[in-house]
Amino acid sequence: MKLIVGITGASGSLYAYTLIRTLHELGVDTYVIATGMGEKVLQFECGLSMQDLKEYATLLNNQNLFASVASGSFKTNGMVIVPCSMNTLGSIANGVGDTLMNRAASVVLKENRRLVIVPRETPLSIIHLENMLKLARAGASMMPASPGFYHRPGEVWELTNFMVARILDAFDIEHDLMARWGEKQTQ
Ligand SMILES: Cc1cc2nc3c(=O)[nH]c(=O)nc-3n(C[C@H](O)[C@H](O)[C@H](O)COP(=O)(O)O)c2cc1C
Repeated sequence: MKLIVGITGASGSLYAYTLIRTLHELGVDTYVIATGMGEKVLQFECGLSMQDLKEYATLLNNQNLFASVASGSFKTNGMVIVPCSMNTLGSIANGVGDTLMNRAASVVLKENRRLVIVPRETPLSIIHLENMLKLARAGASMMPASPGFYHRPGEVWELTNFMVARILDAFDIEHDLMARWGEKQTQ
């Protein structure tokens, strides 16, 4: 299995870090693209550089439009952009393909592969909402970074795992990050 993970400059890069480590543990061949702001927010929020992700995934340069994932002939199982900024979301929704992030997402859509977008912004303007609708109509799965609380999380990692579990589910990747509803709670 081959998966592309995009990291943008929205808040929540911990989701991406947790996802990339988990994909590595599960043996998924992972390709990571980060925007310039994605790298900066990863450093700011998690104290991590791209080099810290090197042991878990193949790192791709966002400016390199010659990279494998820029072409539909390079087969992947899809792409997740987590966290996804309104800037990147708007670019993809409007067909902009000027960076590897935008190009890879547009390739995944045109090839009818799975594109999971985890947007993070609040509140949302009409422009944000319209861009999300455009992407949903084009076949993307909109998966807002809004973890549930019904598993009674006490720690940040439990909230993070909630979102990562939903992303893995979207790609039918088996995992045991958290108990499923109906499995553990009293009926
Ligand atoms: C600490 C920090 C947190 C941010 N959080 C968000 C966010 O949650 N959502 C968002 O759309 N933009 C957020 N931004 C703004 C984006 O980083 C900015 O719009 C940037 O142009 C996004 O670029 P990119 O799409 O190339 O990553 C944040 C910026 C900073 C510095």
